[in-house]
Amino acid sequence: MAASPLETFLSTALEQSYALSEPADAVEAIAPLLLDLIQQADTFLEPHHYRSDPHHYTRNLVYAAPDGRISLYALVWLPGQWTPVHDHGSWGVVGVLEGVLEEHSYVRLSPDRGADTGIDLVRGGVILLGPGSVTSFVPNPDHIHKTGVPSDRPVVISLHLYGRTMNSFNTYDIAAGTRQRIEVAHNES
Ligand SMILES: [Fe+2]
Repeated sequence: MAASPLETFLSTALEQSYALSEPADAVEAIAPLLLDLIQQADTFLEPHHYRSDPHHYTRNLVYAAPDGRISLYALVWLPGQWTPVHDHGSWGVVGVLEGVLEEHSYVRLSPDRGADTGIDLVRGGVILLGPGSVTSFVPNPDHIHKTGVPSDRPVVISLHLYGRTMNSFNTYDIAAGTRQRIEVAHNES
């Protein structure tokens, strides 16, 4: 039997993640693959991938490589749900299936010497990602942002591929100039 679009995507993304050790090369190679995959999302997304929660945005696991090399999640954003300001410690490629995902960028002015205090961030631009859009980010320096959907816009469904199992990230307190590593929950597939 021929491989499904999801199987082809995952095996190619995994190969590329090993072949291209530079994160910018990995996201450049994988972004077009995700662009194709989101057009075929109805071939592999099941009802449990669309689970939502009235209290916070929901991360539904689609695939996690056994060796932790890549992970793919379907995220469901109800109106008014946002991440905290965060980074990923990994490269990532994000594609939007439904709705308009909004991203607010932050720019770090102070050098990162590993301390979790004295972090000077300023607000950057806003990006609106409609259905069919793909965006990506790379670490070092980490890409710092918050994403979500304003309360007056419809639900958003997006696919997120990361260069590791995405079970924790750094969150930032802008006013205090601090960051904190937190665990992030997801629903198993
Ligand atoms: Fe993010």
